[in-house]
Amino acid sequence: MKKSVIAIDGYSSTGKSSISKIIAEKLGLVHLDTGALYRGVTWFALMNCLDEEGKIDLNKLFSSFSRIDLEFRNNQGELILFLNQDDISKSIRTNEVSENVSFIAKQKEVRDFLLRYQRSLADNGGIIMDGRDIGTVVLPGADYKFFMTASIEERTKRRYQELISLGIEADEKQVMENLMIRDKIDSEREIAPLKQADDAIVIDNTNLTKRETIDEILSYISKI
Ligand code: DC
Repeated sequence: MKKSVIAIDGYSSTGKSSISKIIAEKLGLVHLDTGALYRGVTWFALMNCLDEEGKIDLNKLFSSFSRIDLEFRNNQGELILFLNQDDISKSIRTNEVSENVSFIAKQKEVRDFLLRYQRSLADNGGIIMDGRDIGTVVLPGADYKFFMTASIEERTKRRYQELISLGIEADEKQVMENLMIRDKIDSEREIAPLKQADDAIVIDNTNLTKRETIDEILSYISKI
């Protein structure tokens, strides 16, 4: 029997990825953090596609897709993102990437490039994918769809802690600004904007611990 496909969308720093990872372990599914792919393309652009003023040259990026080989490798249950054989799991979390990723993610060419890869990974089922447009665009036929939200204050706290724990310098005010800008760009873009699928279950975890959020999601998932 084909295993289930679960889509988890929502705002930045609602815990989508870390929660999806634990649910995947519990249910024996593969977990794919699609935000990491957009971050990977952004990292590539910052390294290879800058113009003379140091800005990302989109045409240069679009004509370089054939040179972008993104691959998740399994390291003891943890999926590590590699770009052209280099481990970029830490580089994609830097402020430089966070500040540019929404601009890159709103480009149709980039979304088309990553759409095929994401769908092919879900072909055999047994996957939990988190992102912004999974339930609406990437996997509209997913068996379960969740949409996660939380207050901006709570999300800022979480993102700040995450950066500090990764050894990345951070300022809370800047973190909040970056989250708000990203939410705005992600929600207002023309192609595949961040929005709740009509048939998604909304999970507001402002006042929930990670454990409680996981239990709530699991309570909706019957048999896999
Ligand atoms: O989840 P994240 O913060 O790592 O995502 C980084 C950016 O990628 C986010 O600003 C929006 C974009 N993104 C997207 O547009 N579609 C997805 N499915 C996942 C992420």
